[in-house]
Amino acid sequence: MTIALEREVLPRNLSVPGLVDAVSSLSDLLVGRRAAGDRVGFVPTMGALHDGHLALISRAKSESDFVVVSVFVNPTQFNSREDFDKYPRSIEQDAQGATVAGADVVFVPPIANMYPPGGLTQVSLPDLSGVLEGSSRPGHFDGVALVVTKLFSIVGPCTAFFGEKDFQQLQIVRRLVSDLFLPVHVVGCETVREESGLAMSSRNQRLSREHLRAAPVLYRALLRARELIEGGESNFDRVEAEMTLIISSEPLADLDYARVVDCETLTRPDHLADQVRVLVAANFGGIRLIDNLGARVGGSDMKGRS
Ligand code: PAF
Repeated sequence: MTIALEREVLPRNLSVPGLVDAVSSLSDLLVGRRAAGDRVGFVPTMGALHDGHLALISRAKSESDFVVVSVFVNPTQFNSREDFDKYPRSIEQDAQGATVAGADVVFVPPIANMYPPGGLTQVSLPDLSGVLEGSSRPGHFDGVALVVTKLFSIVGPCTAFFGEKDFQQLQIVRRLVSDLFLPVHVVGCETVREESGLAMSSRNQRLSREHLRAAPVLYRALLRARELIEGGESNFDRVEAEMTLIISSEPLADLDYARVVDCETLTRPDHLADQVRVLVAANFGGIRLIDNLGARVGGSDMKGRS
């Protein structure tokens, strides 16, 4: 999506302490903290914070001395102006919530600070970005990769915490950090779920009551896939067909994909894989939801499964 600075929707008259909006102020602050021996933890977000984000911030707090949370609704990762405009924004509430959860500073840059006019650089990982979410949202991960690279450059050496709910995003971030030798340690954190099993997401608040009731079908399909794979099913077409059947049995779900993939390449796992990822995406009344789980192939040992 092209960036229209004149239509920024964040209020800029913020009155919450601990907010920084200038790139150089944040960088300078963090240089000082690191010089004083602090380990910096970083949680990038687009705001509309829910318990999943708060869990990332608490984890960052427990593993770092100084925690930065960014709240930036990144225009370049949206496929349409309408989706960007509709993205929930609650900046003051987010800043307060982040601070209570453990943020020492909340970075809320205006679009003009993150995308000064004349920027030419792009960051792209076509092999990982073109599949799954990338097939339905062309350009989305280029926008994510660009903004995450910018944020990592601003924050500097740190440990960055990302939710596993956006598994493809997490793999893309891991890969760009490794390919570009960025001084960032990336930690993937387990998905936080509602009691119904529905993965927490800022998009959930846009679901109608009926769609909210229907959406846990995604988790049920993932659990069944995991059960099949860990029970020894090695025909992944069959696993995908079973997930498709489960999700399609819910009339309010409009399935996009149900896939079994290799955790790193995001392609069909080869016969040597001892762990895989199952991923699903579906629309509920026009709201796109995604979810995923790890599974041990044939019940082999898999550390850090979630
Ligand atoms: O997961 C998100 O909230 C966003 O994609 C991120 C990583 C903050 C980049 O804008």
